[in-house]
Amino acid sequence: MKTIEALGDLRGKRVLVRSDLNVPLDDNGTITDDGRVRASVPTISSLAEAGARVIVCAHLGRPKGAPEEKYSLRPVAVRLGELLGRPVAFATDTVGSSAQAVVAGLDDGDVAVLENLRFNPGETAKDDAERGAFADALAGLADAFVSDGFGVVHRKQASVYDVPARLPHAGGGLVAAEVEVLRRLTETPERPYAVVLGGAKVSDKLAVIANLLQTADRLLVGGGMVFTFLAAQGHEVGKSLLEADQVDTVRGYLADAAERGVEIVLPTDIVAADAFSADAKHDVVPADAIPADRMGLDIGPESARLFADRLADARTIFWNGPLGAFEMAPYAEGTRALAQALVEATASGALTVVGGGDSAAAVRQLGFTDEQFGHISTGGGASLEYLEGKQLPGLTVLEDEEG
Ligand code: 3PG
Ligand code: MG
Repeated sequence: MKTIEALGDLRGKRVLVRSDLNVPLDDNGTITDDGRVRASVPTISSLAEAGARVIVCAHLGRPKGAPEEKYSLRPVAVRLGELLGRPVAFATDTVGSSAQAVVAGLDDGDVAVLENLRFNPGETAKDDAERGAFADALAGLADAFVSDGFGVVHRKQASVYDVPARLPHAGGGLVAAEVEVLRRLTETPERPYAVVLGGAKVSDKLAVIANLLQTADRLLVGGGMVFTFLAAQGHEVGKSLLEADQVDTVRGYLADAAERGVEIVLPTDIVAADAFSADAKHDVVPADAIPADRMGLDIGPESARLFADRLADARTIFWNGPLGAFEMAPYAEGTRALAQALVEATASGALTVVGGGDSAAAVRQLGFTDEQFGHISTGGGASLEYLEGKQLPGLTVLEDEEG
């Protein structure tokens, strides 16, 4: 992957940067976690310092190919300007008259943000020609392209995959740093290597679990997906999330893990509530005896100690997905305890990686800081697909020699 330096003297050049600025906003349009904006600042800053005319493009949410006010990047552009400490121009479209005018008005070292790429159907089109036409228009705004949106490199989309084929291109510092960490996890993890998976759906993680059984020494499971594991062991899970059609697959994984000597660590106790609500009646129950009228919403305190114990001597830890419904205080303790265990592992020299937008937002919301972990990835889906061993379109395209 070419670095920005390899693009040569950037003074006066228009550089299109694909960043991942897909941040959570509340109902008032206020950013609730600006981690991805902060992670995008160093590359944008260094391009501006180098005298480039910087054009930032990004998406927000999943609009359906047409403008929708609630998905506007304007508040994100404002936040970017505050973090950069320089004015940021905003184009109210992506490749139309506003974008053309804003780009034409840039001086060396200026920064502009284009409106949400996904307001244009060409960005996410499955049809190569439709994506290509949009990529032509985007590429027409610039002289060079920098790929820095790690969170979207697993998407075969115009700004990620088709634009770099049309312009001299490089990988930005964020993409390079993320890939370097993932490379360490897949190629040379210091052992014991423990992986913690949470989140709601086991079906999202099947491919990565299959792959991790070949590379990790321990797999700790929590979150909504754990109930499919408990069901595969023959336990009743009450009203908990259950993917009944995945039980056999998971049972196969448990057998495979046993054969390979991979330790699978499941919770021994569960916080079980009578409704998905913060004020529901809830108790800690044994994981193999969840009452029929209860749903599990967090791992229990004994499990939290067990998980911490199985991480204490790990030298490499990858964590993706909260262990409970952490947005509600009564069900946040498992995720908090896990984050604390990673903080302690980091302090004793382990490489700890928190993978993904949701997990990253969770640890910040629980009061932890980025510096307490080895690496907080800006891409959940992207890092999981990397660990699955998939080719990521936004990375493979950077490897070609054309640029
Ligand atoms: C994310 O939030 O996962 C990335 O920004 C990619 O967004 P997407 O999942 O909507 O493609
Ligand atoms: Mg996603």
